[in-house]
Amino acid sequence: MTGERRDEAPPAGPGAAPGEALWAGRFAAAPAPEAHALGRSLHYDVRLAAYDVLAGIAHVGALEAAGLLDAQDAVRLAEALRAVGAAIADGTFIVDDADEDVHSAIERGVTGVVGDLGARLHAGRSRNDLVVTDVRLWALEAVRRIDGLTTMLIRTLVDRAREHAETVVPGTTHARLAQPVTLGHHLLAHAWALVRDLERLGEWSVRTDVSALGAGALGTSTLGLDPAATAGRLGMRTAFDNSIDAVSDRDFALEFLGHATILAMHLSRLAADLARFTDEALGWAELDEGYATGSSMMPQKRNPDTAELARGKAARVVASHVRLAGLLQGLPLGYHRDLQEDKEPLFDAADTLELVLPALIGAVATVRFDLEAMRRAAEAEGLYATDLAEALVASGVPFREAHRRTGLLLKELAAAKRTLRDLTPEEWSSFGVPDGAALLDPDHAVRARSAAGGPSPGSVRAQANTLQRILSERRTGAPTL
Ligand code: ARG
Repeated sequence: MTGERRDEAPPAGPGAAPGEALWAGRFAAAPAPEAHALGRSLHYDVRLAAYDVLAGIAHVGALEAAGLLDAQDAVRLAEALRAVGAAIADGTFIVDDADEDVHSAIERGVTGVVGDLGARLHAGRSRNDLVVTDVRLWALEAVRRIDGLTTMLIRTLVDRAREHAETVVPGTTHARLAQPVTLGHHLLAHAWALVRDLERLGEWSVRTDVSALGAGALGTSTLGLDPAATAGRLGMRTAFDNSIDAVSDRDFALEFLGHATILAMHLSRLAADLARFTDEALGWAELDEGYATGSSMMPQKRNPDTAELARGKAARVVASHVRLAGLLQGLPLGYHRDLQEDKEPLFDAADTLELVLPALIGAVATVRFDLEAMRRAAEAEGLYATDLAEALVASGVPFREAHRRTGLLLKELAAAKRTLRDLTPEEWSSFGVPDGAALLDPDHAVRARSAAGGPSPGSVRAQANTLQRILSERRTGAPTL
């Protein structure tokens, strides 16, 4: 089906007339409505408006520097760009059906404010170099917000870890009781993962802070514009090195989604731990009512929906990453309209992180740990088997032999329906660990693991100090990461 053509395109004036696309000059007819509908991105790329205005103003500076605009016109154009940006922001901008995207809408809006002068704005630029510069600026800002929220979550984990530097809890492997650890140590394991996310996002920001303005459609222009000066005007670190790469490259977007995927995965694992610790079967913690939900049918319920959604939302971010990778693979260099599809996955991933992070910060800050329940669980004798084997090792027994002997002891006790706590001093001596009974103590067990990076209270405090130093050095720009 070809669809019905709209009215003939009006004759070309100095700028795009209402109802006319920016590129209508070469065309006798307006696009088919369904083609227009397919190509339209304004409903989502309007989020780029503020950055499109900034990029527009930087480009006006380039035109002025090249002698293509006098100072007065440059000021008028910049003011018109700001006015259109403000109108979009406060909802008073009237959208024209022909506006394909935010760039067309803003350029038409500028022409509406300054008349024919607006027609000078797009010299030496293309939506190809403009859109990618806008997206870079948007992403840099989104990452600053995500970085701030992630930092806040790390601080919350560090605070809770300091509170619980001495709180004992069973450490698990395969979700089965393994060795006693401190709750602070477990919480900081999440914090260290998030610090790596900050590190990745920081490196990413340096690579992404590159302006494509001046690249034009793909091959710069004949107008003597200076891309480096434009980048400087825009407050960006540098300009592109190759104009074809500048308009083709979406590495920064894919990389952001890769980093966002790892961050979302970390958040999902933290959420999974919150759900597990607050599982009634364990009873190690309870979510604050503000972060729990009831059941519409079962009055007794206190469900961990916040944690479950934080876990489930990671799927969206993973999907966005896959979506963009699928879009980019196999695309020849140069701009292709396919690239318009880069934005929604980016927006969705950033929105998801900005939704999940605050909820997790609140849930972690307010979760109540049941110290008694964790201690009771940490007294389970099995948690001390490795320590007994290591005590034998310390007295000279080869580890394999020590492992076997300890296993045998546990087997005999189980068969006799006894526990390690029932052993007499004589039995401990004949086992080869005369002070064995003293080893079956969670506080002793965690303090005995005094290696740096281990679960001892001293190590938890040292880790918390290091994390705090890393965060404050990042804030002051010192190169810790
Ligand atoms: N809306 C387009 C995008 O997001 C802007 C670039 C259009 N360029 C073009 N040659 N049609 O990619």
